[in-house]
Amino acid sequence: MAACAPTGFDVHTLRDRVRETYDRVALDPSGDFHFHRGATYAASHLGYDADELATLPRVSTDRFAGVGNPIAIAPILPGEVVLDHACGAGMDLLLAARRVGPEGRAIGVDMTPGMRAKAREGALAAGLGGRVQILDGVYESLPLEDESVDVVISNGVLNLAPDKRVVLAEIVRVLRPGGRLQLADVIVQRELTLVARSNPELWAACIGGALPEAELLGFSAEAGLVDGRITARFDAFAGTSAEVKVSKDLRVQGVSFFARKPA
Ligand SMILES: C[S@@+](CC[C@H](N)C(=O)[O-])C[C@H]1O[C@@H](n2cnc3c(N)ncnc32)[C@H](O)[C@@H]1O
Repeated sequence: MAACAPTGFDVHTLRDRVRETYDRVALDPSGDFHFHRGATYAASHLGYDADELATLPRVSTDRFAGVGNPIAIAPILPGEVVLDHACGAGMDLLLAARRVGPEGRAIGVDMTPGMRAKAREGALAAGLGGRVQILDGVYESLPLEDESVDVVISNGVLNLAPDKRVVLAEIVRVLRPGGRLQLADVIVQRELTLVARSNPELWAACIGGALPEAELLGFSAEAGLVDGRITARFDAFAGTSAEVKVSKDLRVQGVSFFARKPA
């Protein structure tokens, strides 16, 4: 059940709902959503460096909607090629672009036009346009060559995929041997009710499609990744309307997860 689309919704309907939600975030991040956004949340709940975030364009940081901190999982090195495989407005992408330096590249893929536009605007405003590339695409079929990427970063997006196995297989395809996955996502500590899983609004809010921890580890190993481990945990939904809506005892959390492709 956990790896599948929620009952009663086909994949296209679900994708349209997700795109519509994140186009709204792109348009007005201060709107009414079931999840936190922005730099203040990133610093207070997820351990980002507030001073560093303050140096990035607000067009990107205001629209941040991640659930963990992929950049902090392992160092991103000068000269590396980093893919953010649903980059949203690009906050993590810009942090990665700074770390790879002028010899590296930071590639963002996202399916939502409004988010891609904001990520592009952010990259130009940060003076990083020369090393940042923003592509239209879905993470089920990435517009990238096999073995072309050193690091895949991911924040708050695997849960949105109706089929997690396909997404992980794409990550493995584009990673070079020895490459790393630095992923943040939502996990459920207790299986969600069918009602919660079948609610497209909760799915779009990154909760309805979240995996139990054992399944995240299992799917990652099944895809061929090794050394899979949770490296940090975050109370990413504390105080959101989702917490109130589903249950006071929601038991979902953000996690950072590391794995690598064998060399
Ligand atoms: C929760 S937001 C996170 C964005 C970004 N990673 C961040 O941390 O701010 C989810 C993002 O995933 C994108 N997305 C959802 N499903 C996708 C798919 N199948 N392929 C590519 N992007 C997708 C949405 O457009 C949205 O920008």
